[in-house]
Amino acid sequence: MKNILVTGGAGFIGSNYINHILKERDDYFIVNLDKLSYAGNLENLKESESNPRYKFVKGDITNSELVEYLFSKYEIKHVINFAAESHVDRSILGSEIFYRTNVIGTNVLLEVSRRFEVEKFVQISTDEVYGSLGPEGLFTEKTPLDPSSPYSSSKAGADIMALAFFHTYGMPVTVTRCSNNYGPFQFPEKLIPLMIINSLNNKNLPVYGDGLNVRDWIYVIDHNKAVDLVFEKGVPGQVYNIGASNEMTNINIIKLILQILGKPDSLIQYVKDRPGHDRRYAIDASKIENELGWKPSFNFETAIESTIKWYIDNKLWWDRIISGEYQKYYSLQYSVK
Ligand code: NAD
Ligand code: TYD
Repeated sequence: MKNILVTGGAGFIGSNYINHILKERDDYFIVNLDKLSYAGNLENLKESESNPRYKFVKGDITNSELVEYLFSKYEIKHVINFAAESHVDRSILGSEIFYRTNVIGTNVLLEVSRRFEVEKFVQISTDEVYGSLGPEGLFTEKTPLDPSSPYSSSKAGADIMALAFFHTYGMPVTVTRCSNNYGPFQFPEKLIPLMIINSLNNKNLPVYGDGLNVRDWIYVIDHNKAVDLVFEKGVPGQVYNIGASNEMTNINIIKLILQILGKPDSLIQYVKDRPGHDRRYAIDASKIENELGWKPSFNFETAIESTIKWYIDNKLWWDRIISGEYQKYYSLQYSVK
């Protein structure tokens, strides 16, 4: 049995990872440490909660005593660190918690992992650490880090800290840098779920700037399959880009959502641009494809339709979110400035 500490497993990508991997692997015992921030939701894990190979612990990755206690209690030998403050707009409204969780929290996990001599530590980073691309070119693992937002700079700090623990202490660290994910259980502050839910509610769809910023979209299960491959076969000290070669402008995504839902383009509302808005992200994933044999298996056209259907079928899930605390953030973020 592999005893794995998965952090942030109640969030979007982490919960999809746990639900998926418990079905795929019968030799994983997963301890999910999540502080249940606004973005953490145990409803995401309903299908896993009664699995004997799964244990949830509510707690903060910055709490080193708790992390140490979990390492000894569950004989943790592997860590996959998904936990993070993850939303760029929130990091612009206030950055402190981003550095606390993303930088200090990762440092706590690395230090405890070092003391307990973990066999594998996968740091879930992001392509946003590379900064912004112009109209041409792709991010490779050799692209210099040049993060632009408080969010991406905090992720870059964690990313290079993890690599420094490999170089300095020989810790078996791998780092993944994935592009923008979509799929079930994504918190509706992010572009795709926000636009789906606003369309369903006949609310305006706020497009930042000219709507021509480009993101490279990947279905969350494809990302998680890549994470598992890096966990199993990744070479210590290496970085792996993950992406599905699916670049789209924001406006084209929004128009596609409106079209699938049969809603009018008149819901589109251009609003003030995000400060420091990165223009384009695009991933060269040839390293993980050639060295680990990964390739994406979901096609965007069908996976976006099934994602939209998931939000239609799971109104209760997002209704609970948007009726509560999230409402305050929404009013602050989208109030006329
Ligand atoms: P999310 O915001 O949906 O989930 C984050 C989870 O971390 C939540 O469950 C939250 O409660 C938990 N968390 C936050 N602070 C914590 C703390 N101090 N201690 C313990 N738990 C804490 O984020 P996500 O979209 O699922 O992203 C997961 C990871 O993947 C992040 O590290 C993010 O940077 C990275 N990533 C995300 C994307 C994307 O498109 N969403 C792309 C590339 C990389
Ligand atoms: P987001 O989902 O926040 O991901 P990230 O900024 O981390 O890539 O945003 C994706 C793109 O959509 C980004 O270019 C900003 C844009 N966007 C809007 O135009 N309107 C919105 O309301 C949101 C949330 C994002």
